[in-house]
Amino acid sequence: MQEKPVAVVTGGVRGIGRAIAEELVEEGYHVVVTYCNSEGQAEKMRELFRNKVDIKRADVSNQDEVDTLFNDIMEHYGRLDVLVNNAGITQDKTFHKMGANEWHQVIDVNLNGTFYCCNRAIPVMREKNFGRIINISSIVGQKGNFGQANYAASKAGMLGLTKTLALENAVKGITVNAICPGFIETDMVSAIPDEVKTKIQDEIPMKRFGTAREVARAVRFLASRDAAYITGQELNINGGLLTH
Ligand code: CAA
Repeated sequence: MQEKPVAVVTGGVRGIGRAIAEELVEEGYHVVVTYCNSEGQAEKMRELFRNKVDIKRADVSNQDEVDTLFNDIMEHYGRLDVLVNNAGITQDKTFHKMGANEWHQVIDVNLNGTFYCCNRAIPVMREKNFGRIINISSIVGQKGNFGQANYAASKAGMLGLTKTLALENAVKGITVNAICPGFIETDMVSAIPDEVKTKIQDEIPMKRFGTAREVARAVRFLASRDAAYITGQELNINGGLLTH
């Protein structure tokens, strides 16, 4: 069995996921990172983190691929301590223009992908009486966003799942929390049209976008033993854009 604790970060070769993987490596975890399409970034990360990070291709919206991923992890390492459900996509369109395809793709990756991973992780964690699950939701799941009905629904769904899993697994030493980032400097935010981006930045009380590192540090804390009494929570990292 792997001596170091094992953490899985989905969608972890770029953006927020990459920063989370780096923080967890620094904290002493053996980190398994998944990616779906970013082959180039996966290769770069493989070279940089040889022996420290295990980088696997898995489409989290495909239950068979998620099953293979978790079977491999258990076979190789025999343990699973932390799961960070970070893999996510957008397909922004105003709702009256949105087709079923855009709806299903986003729900399949963001929400169903989280379900498939939790579905495999929870039984292992229950057996060990220990586990940390951190779901990367979004401010958009809390307040909605113009052009993001599909994404907002997926991220709000993650919050309901988080709270229920927290209740059901509290007595088994498993904590389940969500992080709700606001607008963070990533490829996803870069893709927002310039005039919309300026408007959003203007509305943020701190007048800037967040950094992936600012999100990753919070994940590192929630994954730690120090966060043992925190479960079922939504942690907002949004520069004051939503306060509640
Ligand atoms: N608020 C109010 N009005 C808006 C608006 C907004 N945020 N965005 C667009 N509109 C308005 C436009 O000004 C335009 O108005 P007029 O017709 O009066 O000129 C109208 O809506 C355009 O509507 P359409 O249906 O024609 O929309 P479109 O096809 O041009 O595209 C859009 C609309 C896809 C929503 C595009 O504006 C866009 O990509 N917006 C960014 C969406 C966004 O914020 N995404 C966040 C990505 S980051 C992320 O998701 C990470 C996270 O967790 C936060």
